[in-house]
Amino acid sequence: MLDVVVLASGRGSNFAALLGAQQRGELPIRIRALLSDKSAAPALDIARAAGIDAIALAPRDFADRAAFDRALFAHAAQFHPHLIVLAGYMRVIDAAIVNDWHGRMINIHPSLLPKYPGLHTHERAIAAGDATHGASVHFVTAQLDGGPVIAQARIPVLGGDTPDTLAARLLPLEHRLLAASVDAIARRRIALGDNGVEFDGHLLVAPLRLQADGGLRTVG
Ligand code: GRF
Repeated sequence: MLDVVVLASGRGSNFAALLGAQQRGELPIRIRALLSDKSAAPALDIARAAGIDAIALAPRDFADRAAFDRALFAHAAQFHPHLIVLAGYMRVIDAAIVNDWHGRMINIHPSLLPKYPGLHTHERAIAAGDATHGASVHFVTAQLDGGPVIAQARIPVLGGDTPDTLAARLLPLEHRLLAASVDAIARRRIALGDNGVEFDGHLLVAPLRLQADGGLRTVG
């Protein structure tokens, strides 16, 4: 059983997807807490309704970003998680904290990394005329949205797409991609090795790809 702490800044739909899979017995994890930097984040209410510890800290209560991060991750550490999942968590985390959780923290990002790290990813994919867009789950390193990618889900960009329609079509795949990635970690099939992501003991040469059946397959 993988003990997990989730960090979210807003709506929490990715968190809710993990929680739902856990509650249906589809995911061998135990979500121990939901932490947020926004006291009004709906993700907190989802956690409370499920009887999961929900903790929000306000950045303005701390001297600087690093002090906030130290406090938030000290709360996370109290739950002794095997894995921290950033699920719609919108803050850049201090490098010292990231290093403390090396190989034990993942993030879901709505682009086919290394394309479009940062914000407004759907808008940028459309503006670039990309035929394909998607989402990535990656280990978190000090480089923003730059850590080794575990798995990706892909969708076509359609002619009339707006950032909102593209985001809406991608979101359900994000949920399945995140659940599949956490499942692989829980089953000890995925680990961050010295040279990158290892899947079943072999170094991945490309991110795993989400299949229609919800499974992950190697590429190439
Ligand atoms: C998602 O698109 C996620 O990829 C990004 O934040 C968005 C909101 O996620 N990081 P959620 O609904 O709060 O999980």
